[in-house]
Amino acid sequence: YVIGVDLGTSAVKLLLVNKSGEVVQEVSKDYPLIQEKTGYSEQNPEDWVKQTIAGLKQLLEEFSGDASEIDGLSFSGQMHGLVLLDENNQVLRNAILWNDTRTTAQCREIYEKVGKERFIKITKNLALEGFTLPKILWVKEHEPDLYAKISSFVLPKDYVRYRLTKTLHMDYSDAAGTSLLDVAKKEWSKEICDAVGLEISICPQLVQSHKKVGKITKDVAKETGLSEEMDVYAGGADNACGAIGSGILSEGKTFASIGTSGVVLSYEPTGEKDYGGKVHYFNHGEEGAYYAMGVTLAAGHSLNWFKSVFANDRSFDELLEGVGDVPVGSNGILFTPYLVGERTPYADSQIRGSFIGMDSSHTIKDFTRAVLEGITFSLNESITIFRENGKEIDTIYSIGGGSKNKDWLQMQADIFNSKVVRLKTEQGPGMGAAMIAAYGSGWFNSLKECANAFLENAETYTPIKENVVKYKQLFRLYQGIYR
Ligand code: XUL
Repeated sequence: YVIGVDLGTSAVKLLLVNKSGEVVQEVSKDYPLIQEKTGYSEQNPEDWVKQTIAGLKQLLEEFSGDASEIDGLSFSGQMHGLVLLDENNQVLRNAILWNDTRTTAQCREIYEKVGKERFIKITKNLALEGFTLPKILWVKEHEPDLYAKISSFVLPKDYVRYRLTKTLHMDYSDAAGTSLLDVAKKEWSKEICDAVGLEISICPQLVQSHKKVGKITKDVAKETGLSEEMDVYAGGADNACGAIGSGILSEGKTFASIGTSGVVLSYEPTGEKDYGGKVHYFNHGEEGAYYAMGVTLAAGHSLNWFKSVFANDRSFDELLEGVGDVPVGSNGILFTPYLVGERTPYADSQIRGSFIGMDSSHTIKDFTRAVLEGITFSLNESITIFRENGKEIDTIYSIGGGSKNKDWLQMQADIFNSKVVRLKTEQGPGMGAAMIAAYGSGWFNSLKECANAFLENAETYTPIKENVVKYKQLFRLYQGIYR
């Protein structure tokens, strides 16, 4: 067996996976978000540790086998969150999370000091409020006494791993989201550190995702029931682990994930591709590989919002029933899902959503379909950028909530103009973390080999020509709304 620990934003999810890739046990433990002001989003790292240990304990209590049968454990983590440590590796303040947006001024400062073009060249990404470096600069400006005590920073799952093993590392896939990594060279950027006045020594030691970083401490073994002999592997960013867990491990492979936010992620074999910051470009959990990624901030969130405001008396199944009977284009309604701003392609936190084209004949079904179409158009913006940059995409793996409805899956195939595949069992980033542990433990010679053994397709949706033609026109109208 192996364990995949997925340290998310609302909960930590733990999967116990056997040698055939089956999840034999699953535990989830939640923790609160701390939102003291508009735009602030923090968590107490102690909550992550407490709940991860409680989750491991429960997993072991419910496990019918022996702890010695568990070969390894690895992590997936929410990206970008800033955890600051002093010289004794004590946490200095609450973690500032990926969805905290207080750092607009610091993003500007980074461009001024490094030069925007140069910054994008090194990090292969824009400076965004959610990323880690702007958060460090915010602390420098607003909490100088605390800043003076910083000995190092890590990301959320790195801190939990530290508490479990007492070894401190960061893997490349997560480091790629800090705005401090030279992504192609895979080293901390001294140039950026110097320009913004940071000591490079606060950046932790970098490792590959499948690197064995240590074993759990005696105390943690005692508390959880895990064996002290079990190996711990570094793990990766949640999006990198999501990629591994859905088999995005070779050129052209792409997933579209519709959860609260939406992500389109596509494999890149090298660090050389240049999207000029239009989409994210991060190191993969597979050694030497990369991925390009676009983000829709309010994907499932838009549908949740729509249901809660206009159809709170219905279940999601009731709400979505019959949307397949509404014609392509929702009888003339267009929806833009910019409810909390938009990341790809606009990086604009101020833009807001819209319904356009309403008339008195429209029913809730037309609106519901329009919401699904708007979310899917937004994801198609990322796919369009990939294609405009020479990427060939003919199969997209649909994961998350968006893969649970047949009409929506067909809509994705028609809007993306690509085959859309649903996986038989989809466990998200936790499965990717378990696969890293399986590969690290020597069960397989590569992550690809592991994916071949663990993952299976359920069904494929093929684009319907006449819908593709209609959606191409509608997508152009949709894109015009922002302008
Ligand atoms: C990625 C991002 C989110 C977080 C969520 O850039 O901000 O997907 O990783 O945990």
